[in-house]
Amino acid sequence: MKKRLLVTGGVGYIGSHTVVELMNAGYDVVIVDNLNNSSISILDQIFEIAGQKPEFRELDLCEEAKVAQFVKDNPSISGVIHFAAHKAVGESVQNPLKYYRNNFFSILNLLTAFEGRKVNFVFSSSCTVYGQPTQLPVTENAPVQKAESPYGNTKQVAEEILAEVAAANTNYNIISLRYFNPVGAHESALIGELPIGVPQNLVPFITQSAIGKRGPITVFGDDYNTPDGSCIRDYIHVVDLAKAHIAALKRQEQDKMMSKYEVFNVGTGKGSSVLEAITTFEAATGVKLNYVIGPRRQGDIEQVWGDVAKASSELNWEAQLGLPEMMRSAWAWENYISNKKFN
Ligand code: NAD
Ligand code: WQD
Repeated sequence: MKKRLLVTGGVGYIGSHTVVELMNAGYDVVIVDNLNNSSISILDQIFEIAGQKPEFRELDLCEEAKVAQFVKDNPSISGVIHFAAHKAVGESVQNPLKYYRNNFFSILNLLTAFEGRKVNFVFSSSCTVYGQPTQLPVTENAPVQKAESPYGNTKQVAEEILAEVAAANTNYNIISLRYFNPVGAHESALIGELPIGVPQNLVPFITQSAIGKRGPITVFGDDYNTPDGSCIRDYIHVVDLAKAHIAALKRQEQDKMMSKYEVFNVGTGKGSSVLEAITTFEAATGVKLNYVIGPRRQGDIEQVWGDVAKASSELNWEAQLGLPEMMRSAWAWENYISNKKFN
């Protein structure tokens, strides 16, 4: 019998790639999403790639009674991957309550609805919890630093909630995956990131600038204490990231967890600068970019990349795809969406 999983936020960027990998791996998937930052037509795209459509339920996870009813109506769900959240750092500073309400009510309603049931739970956390680490690469044992934004704080506090719930409730197996910087798109170019408005993240800005939707890229600072002066991040291909969720689920299903709550870094273990990202895009696609050097962006971390030894040894997972493939696939996706309207 196929294992049945709930994927919240499953038509979003990382969720849609993960749903494809889960279905390819033989899971039966039900998505819950309120389409707040995504399009229903992604379900057709998923079908085109995977040859099957996941079940879909449009539901706002903030609606406690409806979440409880949904969970009650689905007694065979054995695992939850919880992607659904608001994720724009800048917006969270402008409107913290929007972030605290959505991200906390969602996770609390889910955990409450599943209380008493044996369930595996995988949570989308972020390297943002580390702030600027004093030691690089940063390991899972590095101290969590005061969050730079309400968004970052929702990840930190959610991790604390999960650790406490797992300790108190032996039915839960919980893994938080701390993603580094997810970029790129599925090799089919049928799913990818759909940024609304001006992209705040580097790679969507690069591809939109390259295709002519935006002007030149601004490199936010070239006077950092890094080899070329620009900031360094651990960019990870979204398909590699999707596969890490399957590795986490397998660990839970095979009872390999050392405690009821575990945390893993999910990155490549390699840092790349903003200027390297730009030159890699140019080399991988043959498209020239225009960029200007601008001032530092407030709140930016100078450099961070992950120690991924724990994921390698305990999840048996490692990233396979490098920065050129991330850039090529992001560019193919940008070209695809420039000719397509999502509703
Ligand atoms: P996304 O916005 O593309 O996907 C999130 C999905 O959740 C969307 O489809 C949205 O409609 C849905 N959603 C939001 N609130 C909901 C609610 N109350 N009820 C039901 N559905 C709701 O974002 P993503 O980039 O795929 O991110 C997925 C997760 O990974 C998020 O938790 C995010 O914080 C985390 N994360 C993302 C990044 C990144 O750079 N993309 C990095 C680290 C962590
Ligand atoms: C990457 C680098 C910028 C745009 C954010 C969140 C983090 C996580 C991922 C969810 C930085 C530089 C960017 C541009 C630039 N999300 N840049 N020009 O800031 O590492 O992380 O997304 O958890 O929480 O903070 O990603 O893609 O915004 O920036 O020079 O137009 O590119 O300064 O050094 P970031 P990013």
